[in-house]
Amino acid sequence: MQTDFLIIGSGISGLNFALNAAKKGKVLIITKKKLIDSNTNYAQGGIAAVLDKTDNYKKHIKDTLEAGSYHNNKKAVEFMVKNSTAAIYRLVDLGVEFAKENGKLKLTKEGGHQKKRIAYVGDYTGKEIERILVKRIKEHPNIKIFEDTFALKLIVKGKNCYGSQVIRNNKIDNIFAHQTILATGGIGALFEHTTNPTIATGDGIAMGITAKCKLKDIEFIQFHPTALDKNIKPKFLVSETVRGEGAKIITEDGKKLMKNKHRLRDLAPRDIVAREIYKAQQSEQVYLDIRHKKTAFLKKRFPKIYQKLKSYKIDMAKDLIPVTPAAHYICGGIVTDLFGRTRLKNLYAFGEVTCTGVHGANRLASNSLLEALVFSNQIIKKLKLKNELKIPAIKKEKLISTNSQKTKEATKLKQEIKKIMWKYAGIIRNRKTIKKEGLPQIKNIIKELEKIFGTNQEIAESRNMAIVGKSILKAAYKRKTSIGCHFLQ
Ligand code: FAD
Ligand code: SIN
Repeated sequence: MQTDFLIIGSGISGLNFALNAAKKGKVLIITKKKLIDSNTNYAQGGIAAVLDKTDNYKKHIKDTLEAGSYHNNKKAVEFMVKNSTAAIYRLVDLGVEFAKENGKLKLTKEGGHQKKRIAYVGDYTGKEIERILVKRIKEHPNIKIFEDTFALKLIVKGKNCYGSQVIRNNKIDNIFAHQTILATGGIGALFEHTTNPTIATGDGIAMGITAKCKLKDIEFIQFHPTALDKNIKPKFLVSETVRGEGAKIITEDGKKLMKNKHRLRDLAPRDIVAREIYKAQQSEQVYLDIRHKKTAFLKKRFPKIYQKLKSYKIDMAKDLIPVTPAAHYICGGIVTDLFGRTRLKNLYAFGEVTCTGVHGANRLASNSLLEALVFSNQIIKKLKLKNELKIPAIKKEKLISTNSQKTKEATKLKQEIKKIMWKYAGIIRNRKTIKKEGLPQIKNIIKELEKIFGTNQEIAESRNMAIVGKSILKAAYKRKTSIGCHFLQ
């Protein structure tokens, strides 16, 4: 099978790039579950952009750099922020109906922002964006979609990428492409406690590692401070915009946790709030308190969160909301330039799988959907697509049954990886234990997985999680001082 553009992943970056690429050639999107299965579909808070007269690019750039501990690539930050306004209006043109007031976009606030600059749709911004992009994709004659199709590995020869080997309809196939695009999202599922759905197993980063792409900043895992503290997987997020609308973080005895901790208090950057909650919860429960707001306001502003909390018998208007930090986002990834180019020819990457450098050591809230959107709006202008590809021979692994004992072993190893990552690459880290315990444990898991002959999606995901987990632990060990999300004790 052959196409002009092979896009792996159907979140905001994959779908948005598909709409751009379809103007130039034939596009095939493959995705490992259904189209809407993505982190994008879970996004609650909104998208940051300069959208108000009282705001400007300089301020958004400053906030992004400050949240990222100035570890960011300033050029990339400037590029993203200066393209932010146009990116939002592109979504509006596609049909996304952001909240409005008096005919203008209504904006909210999140941690680390000195201005109200988050455009949103209730508390389900990602779901709405995904819905509109899927609608536009399905209408496009140049775009084909394969759901339930798992990218196993990239087809690489020398420094060229020729497509991807995939598992589809219980077979391993090769899909060849002039340009292959990794839009595979993040790695939250590597951690025991996460806000990410089960698809976030780091497949794209693992494929990049195997293909010798350059990685950067993968030790910077962002933990969201306020996941609902209930025994559910994934953890349900209580959006930062709840604090943006005035909620406070309090301890059991009613003490305001963030008082005297940062000038922005409850809206301090995420790494700082997550650490304070983590430290406090070693001895007491931590809560969000938004009881000063009326039921009617909360129901309208946070319809999904209100309903979800109700199912746990928590009434936001009357009760405290128990919260805990959970793995949320990877700030680094495969190194790309402003056009999404990787080290390999004809291999591009967009979205959470990348390291464009915009997030530095800690991502500013709601800059992720923005990054995915702005960078996937780029397409090489002088792009030439040839009629025929020179296709290299590629070996196929044996596909084994998903009911086999080997698959059960792989599932068990996934659970072990999650525990290792939570313990050694969590909110507070220790280089000695990473070296003496974390790394040897993950290397043992890699050895166990190597003993399995053959593959299937479950086995491949476990291998990917182990490969990416090892790289994160190695990067965390290498970084000797605390900065942003990487906090050492
Ligand atoms: P994704 O949306 O994760 O899409 C990745 C796609 O790749 C999926 O379709 C997946 O199935 C597919 N895939 C992966 N591996 C394979 C494979 N091997 N083969 C085939 N397909 C594969 N960011 C914000 O800016 N604002 C927010 O308000 C916000 N809220 C969030 C709330 C939650 C609960 C979560 C989890 C994240 C939130 N984020 C938010 C982060 C943001 O949603 C993500 O960073 C962003 O959506 C990533 O988009 P993406 O296109 O890179 O990846
Ligand atoms: C949230 O709504 O709190 C998530 C925002 C983000 O991840 O940027």
